[in-house]
Amino acid sequence: MSNLVRISKENDIAVITIDNPPVNALSPGVPEGLAAAIDELNRDATIKAAIVIGAGRTFVAGADIKEFGKMVATGRRGSLLPLLRKIEDSAKPVVMAIHGQAFGGGLELAMAGHYRVASPTAQVGQPEVNLGIIPGAAGTQRLPRLVGVAKAVEMCTSGKPVSAREAAVLGLIDKLIDGDLLTGALSFAREIADKPAPKARERSQKLGTAEESAPIFAAARDNVRKKQRGMKAPLAAIDAIEAGTRMSFEEGCEAEAKLFTECLLSDQSKALIHVFFGEREVAKIPDIPKETPMLPVNRVAVVGSGTMGGGIAMVFANAGIPVLLKDVGQAALDLGMGKIRKNYASSVQRGRFTQAFVDERLALISPVHNYDAFSDVDMVVEAVFEGMALKKTVFEDLDRACRPGAILASNTSTLNIDEIASVTSRPETVIGTHFFSPANVMRLLEIVRGKKSSREVIATCMQLSKKLGKIGVLVGNCRGFVGNRMFGPYRREAQFLVEEGAAIEAVDQALVDFGNAMGPLATGDLAGLDVGWRIRKEYRHTEKPGVRQPFAEDRLCEMGRYGQKTQKGWYLYDENRRSSPDPEVTALVRKWSAEAGTPQRQISSDEIVERCVYALVNEGARILEEGYALRAVDIDIIYLNGYGFPAYRGGPMWYADTVGLPKVYQRICDFERQHGELWAPAPLLKRLAEAGKTFADFDKEQVAAA
Ligand code: 3HC
Ligand code: NAI
Repeated sequence: MSNLVRISKENDIAVITIDNPPVNALSPGVPEGLAAAIDELNRDATIKAAIVIGAGRTFVAGADIKEFGKMVATGRRGSLLPLLRKIEDSAKPVVMAIHGQAFGGGLELAMAGHYRVASPTAQVGQPEVNLGIIPGAAGTQRLPRLVGVAKAVEMCTSGKPVSAREAAVLGLIDKLIDGDLLTGALSFAREIADKPAPKARERSQKLGTAEESAPIFAAARDNVRKKQRGMKAPLAAIDAIEAGTRMSFEEGCEAEAKLFTECLLSDQSKALIHVFFGEREVAKIPDIPKETPMLPVNRVAVVGSGTMGGGIAMVFANAGIPVLLKDVGQAALDLGMGKIRKNYASSVQRGRFTQAFVDERLALISPVHNYDAFSDVDMVVEAVFEGMALKKTVFEDLDRACRPGAILASNTSTLNIDEIASVTSRPETVIGTHFFSPANVMRLLEIVRGKKSSREVIATCMQLSKKLGKIGVLVGNCRGFVGNRMFGPYRREAQFLVEEGAAIEAVDQALVDFGNAMGPLATGDLAGLDVGWRIRKEYRHTEKPGVRQPFAEDRLCEMGRYGQKTQKGWYLYDENRRSSPDPEVTALVRKWSAEAGTPQRQISSDEIVERCVYALVNEGARILEEGYALRAVDIDIIYLNGYGFPAYRGGPMWYADTVGLPKVYQRICDFERQHGELWAPAPLLKRLAEAGKTFADFDKEQVAAA
């Protein structure tokens, strides 16, 4: 038996324990160990039944995702199917005892058992689509037999976990066990030991007929095309489930295996696996060891109850952390609290939260006018208007009001954290926490490291981001930090393209077809065109004379066209914020371009995508080289979680790797020749392209050097 699986006896019941930390993935050795344990079970006449249980924090989190890359590289694809059949065909019943998670291959393993018992807090699911694949060990065949076609389709296409309680109602879990799982599983095993052992693959009552299932599949495909636009795996999962309803179990497994392999070999799967590991990689900061002591964050304060401050207060309250919310006066606070209440009310209406949950959250938010109670808080997030003088005044106040050691964070999106920190007597506790709008929805949190930010403060904010349900990425203190710094050239190119003759809708559509959540011009309208306009005015003196700058947005702003907030921007908006094209803007831009002498031409959607996406990549490469992002993957995670970049393309830097850096570099050189020095290729990009390397290679070198 492998050392990853052990078998012991509790009188007449065998206990088979999978022990492959941290999450009992089905790595090489685990399936072999399980097969040997099942043989042992059937050999030993003194044993009547077996329990399979996970050691440590979970049952089984699935196949070992690290193995997928090797499988693709070597072409060797071990299948779990023979093992699962062996378990199901065991002459003695096998009870799967689930705590933590039974995900992916873990749930497929569990479904091969004759019974499943679970702790009430356990979760089960088929999250494979998040990795660009589908269940590959008969999940698409056994699951519909246990929970019905509609639920199986939902689980396999959304990838979302189901609680053990819901799974018990669905018939996927036979018994919930309060208290010690093993004790409960042992008594359950004794109860069923002498009964005939049901096999999931032989059940058919819940499968329904082809006619009954057809509308379920049609609706699911429609839903995927709308909500998971561009993703192949969810459609493949539906195909596999549908195959199972039309063929025998064995033929269904074959269909599943073929679709699984196609998905595994796809670029989407490689990108999404990069994202899976990337999301975990960003938490690792080379000079901040895991053992760094964390500071307590049990009570917080937010200064400024506007768009961001209100959202940030909700984020803390949602995580159960009491929060003081300060603004300048009662009127501002009433406005801020009013928006928070409205926001929560709409969550209740949409069924996201219950009224009781919202009441508890609201009770955690205390509006205040002054800093009196700030001496008790562990952390403050400042979210007042964007202006250095005001931020400095607020930080001077915070320095006086807060206890030594309290974390003082700013939500600034453009200002220098070190300059803000300089007005305090404790710059080591000052840091940037750059939430994205709407703060209570967007998953990204850029954590901006000041020159003096202490390791404890950084480590605490990184850990806190997880507690708040965010993905924290550490970035350096440069203008725009990482995300917005790259967004500048991206939106600049979108404007240039329109000024050169592309239709406004064509620019947005090309990027939506690429997979982005929104086009760059529509995004500008949503965020407010005036935001960038004001910043550009402030920094105009830093622009190099003679270097081409976009003009269309500034002129739209001069006309009061700020985007959605004025119902006019690049597009026209009705009172429900539905957009329609505005021929007036097109005519204006054509006129302005003629006055500026900008030649007009037909521009393909390929060029639109290249111009916009390579602008991201080139700036990303500069950021990397300058050390403002730790790794290329950090940039990818920022773009996926803060800017609607399609996860199945892995992020801008990964996407550039898949195109090939030599090709990206060549196109950027072409653009430099055509459009001037704004397109000067980043030295790092040139170096990697010429060496035949990728950003992923760069990351590996960074990790090796750390
Ligand atoms: N394979 C390999 N490593 C895995 C893994 C897996 N299936 N699941 C988690 N890990 C690793 C993580 O990379 C991380 O490693 P690190 O410490 O070196 O960064 C470590 O385990 C801990 O993971 P988390 O940080 O994510 O820990 P959490 O406690 O936050 O979450 C979890 C635990 C909910 C199990 C989460 O890790 C998870 O959702 N894992 C992935 C589940 C999944 O996608 N399963 C399907 C795999 S594909 C499959 O099974 C195909 C099959 O159909 C044939
Ligand atoms: P906002 O204008 O909606 O809100 C600012 C709030 O600060 C107002 O309620 C105002 O009354 C209050 N305020 C001003 N001076 C104050 C003081 N001395 N004490 C307490 N409260 C005071 O602004 P918004 O959009 O919420 O922006 C806040 C910060 O977040 C800015 O630094 C901005 O750059 C940043 N940010 C904004 C994003 C956005 O999309 N709006 C995204 C990310 C960051």
